[in-house]
Amino acid sequence: MTSKALFNFAYAFLLFPTLSVAAEDDDFDAEKIYQATCFACHGTGAAHSPEVGDQIEWEIRMEKGMDTLVQNTIAGLNGIMPPRGLCVSCSDDQLKSIVEFMLDSSL
Ligand code: HEC
Repeated sequence: MTSKALFNFAYAFLLFPTLSVAAEDDDFDAEKIYQATCFACHGTGAAHSPEVGDQIEWEIRMEKGMDTLVQNTIAGLNGIMPPRGLCVSCSDDQLKSIVEFMLDSSL
């Protein structure tokens, strides 16, 4: 293999994972995952969870700042909000998109 071919090969190898992650993000549908996992609690108010659509509830939570809300989603909160909202396959960024979707639907 010439050094140029080796370079091209290494370059393609470096580039490919980036492309595949981008493709996954395009496929990610925050509303769909919300319906499949978070809705069980956040759509019904089960376990005293803040209901999506309850403007006052989310205005108060928004005062903590988006970063805190996302951190609490990732780590769980007070032993009743489960870590990652039970979406174990969701990345941190994907969880953030779902929180944004929940806020957009409430405020
Ligand atoms: C088993 C029920 C349950 C599921 C499933 C669940 N939540 Fe929650 N969630 C709660 C409860 C209860 C709270 C309120 C916790 C508190 O304030 O003590 C909460 C709070 C939150 C908050 C507010 C955090 C804060 O700092 O005030 C966010 C954001 C959130 N959940 C996002 C999600 C997302 C996103 C999902 C799905 C990926 C999800 N939740 C799934 C029960 C649930």
